[in-house]
Amino acid sequence: MITGRPIDEYKGKCIEGKAFQVMIDNNLDFDIALYPYELVTYGETGQVCQNWMQYRIIKRYLEEMTQDQTLVVESGHPLGLFASSSEAPRVIITNALMVGVFDDPENLHRAAALGVANYGQMTAGGWMYIGPQGIVHGTYSTILNAGRTKLNIPPDRDLSGYLFVTSGLGGMSGAQGKAVEIAGGVGIIAEVDYSRIQTRHEQEWVHDVVDDPGKAFELANNYQNRRERRAIAFYGNVVDLLEYAVGHHVKIDLLSDQTSCHAVYEGGYCPQGLTFEQRTDLLEKDHKKFKEYVNTSLKRHYEQIKILVERGTYFFDYGNSFLKAVFDAGVKAICKNGKDPIDGFIFPSYVEDIMGPLLFDYGYGPFRWVCLSGKRDDLLKTDAAAMECIDPDRRFQDKDNYVWIRHADKNNLVVGTQARILYQDAMGRMNIALKFNEMVRNRDIGPVMLGRDHHDTGGTDSPFRETANIKDGSNIMADMATQCFAGNAARGMSLVALHNGGGVGIGNAINGGFGLVLNGSERVDNIIRSAIPWDVMGGVARRAWARNKNSIDTSIKYNQTRKGTDHITLPFIPDENLVKDLVADVFNE
Ligand SMILES: NC(=O)c1ccc[n+]([C@@H]2O[C@H](COP(=O)([O-])OP(=O)(O)OC[C@H]3O[C@@H](n4cnc5c(N)ncnc54)[C@H](O)[C@@H]3O)[C@@H](O)[C@H]2O)c1
Repeated sequence: MITGRPIDEYKGKCIEGKAFQVMIDNNLDFDIALYPYELVTYGETGQVCQNWMQYRIIKRYLEEMTQDQTLVVESGHPLGLFASSSEAPRVIITNALMVGVFDDPENLHRAAALGVANYGQMTAGGWMYIGPQGIVHGTYSTILNAGRTKLNIPPDRDLSGYLFVTSGLGGMSGAQGKAVEIAGGVGIIAEVDYSRIQTRHEQEWVHDVVDDPGKAFELANNYQNRRERRAIAFYGNVVDLLEYAVGHHVKIDLLSDQTSCHAVYEGGYCPQGLTFEQRTDLLEKDHKKFKEYVNTSLKRHYEQIKILVERGTYFFDYGNSFLKAVFDAGVKAICKNGKDPIDGFIFPSYVEDIMGPLLFDYGYGPFRWVCLSGKRDDLLKTDAAAMECIDPDRRFQDKDNYVWIRHADKNNLVVGTQARILYQDAMGRMNIALKFNEMVRNRDIGPVMLGRDHHDTGGTDSPFRETANIKDGSNIMADMATQCFAGNAARGMSLVALHNGGGVGIGNAINGGFGLVLNGSERVDNIIRSAIPWDVMGGVARRAWARNKNSIDTSIKYNQTRKGTDHITLPFIPDENLVKDLVADVFNE
């Protein structure tokens, strides 16, 4: 049985070597990992590494690694330990980085079958997954802000009385029930795999389980009328649930989907008309037919959403490549230009509409930490310390984050190691990190691993998700994620990771992350002061250059606060009419 144990129980010649063993084992913890025997942590195919031989060799290297060496992991393969310096990263990981012309699912599968490619997803291959808690906070912020911006809920009110309908109770999607309850609303989450429902029910992240769509909506309506927060699991296909809603004119306020559409033909999406077991069987026996089922179901799914949206529902793509999957299934009408996805889709992605402008453009993103001692007490101390660093009256985002951390323990979010997620902006993350390192130095707490989800402001280039609200044409470039990775390595983060694919599928994103072990030293204080702001502000700066208003404002403030140390290039925004008139003049001449 694998589980992330207290750091002192691991062998090693440096603290980082031991710390990363905790993280790997936590990623494969049987309570956390989706298919632990296959080393899959989440997202249907996201692996820590490709096989158990690699796992054992990596762990052995981590035991042997000294302060002056760096372990290189290429798509799960431990290439070796190489001499570096105590200022360099201890671990550098890349996953599935493919040469452009071969950068597609078919070649990935071929390479994976040959044992040379690993699908690291985001935090699975970066060893920074902390269970479904990692996404609860993001989901909470997304649906709360969707309510504020689309349903006109005032900033001081929550989702009470409103209905959110979605699907998926798996690795990450399993967070949706908990998030909707924290946000005060009522949620119905469709799930075809009963074992997933059971897990979330035992965990109390969903409270009712029904297999009849009518019953699900009736229950929801009762809770809505009583303004009770409640998550209901619907055991069945989401398309059946939506067909019922369309047929019976049920009012759905917020609608999304979190099936594994990034791996839609590999079993990530269960087509309508097949039970979960039948889907597994067909997938194995007749892939062509399975594909046809998936395409038919996605078309039907799209049609129901379209009708609901016409009736006033707000639908958003939840970062699972749903819209792209619908397009791939043959629905060109889902594209804004009716042809291809180059100009985006007719429905927004949650980053495009909500998380991008309201969070990422300011630098707010999924900062996280793991108390390596494994002690709950350490986590409670860090929660309290982080809360002290937040001024809830500065912005509404700070207020939401403050409320989140204040109730974090009560919400019983920990699965696996003692870990926490907290959305913060650049300076917020830096201040909290410095505070934690001081606490480690004073021996108030044991060592801490800092990290973040790759799903963040600056770490990921992904036109269908993280960079969906970047409109200057640069959303097809992967410079930002690559610079973030290189910059974090240069500034001495303990681990840096760069992957292809992630939550939206191979070729659709380049995403990176980091790990930083807080050992209480001054050296680490210095890394925090340079690397943490870089990690975030590289992303804000790029968003400012793309003329995103909130990023420009954030960058102006940053330039003032960090005068003499950092300087972000600001765009000059010309008068659009002036440019148009000039062009017209030239062409008229
Ligand atoms: N929004 C984000 O921040 C974010 C973060 C991580 C992952 N994701 C993406 O979200 C998706 C889900 O991630 P996950 O880790 O939960 O994957 P998962 O595979 O563990 O869970 C998906 C669940 O959907 C269920 N399902 C599939 N088809 C269904 C259908 N038609 N009706 C009802 N249930 C169905 C599956 O049984 C499964 O339990 C992935 O594509 C992932 O990349 C998004």
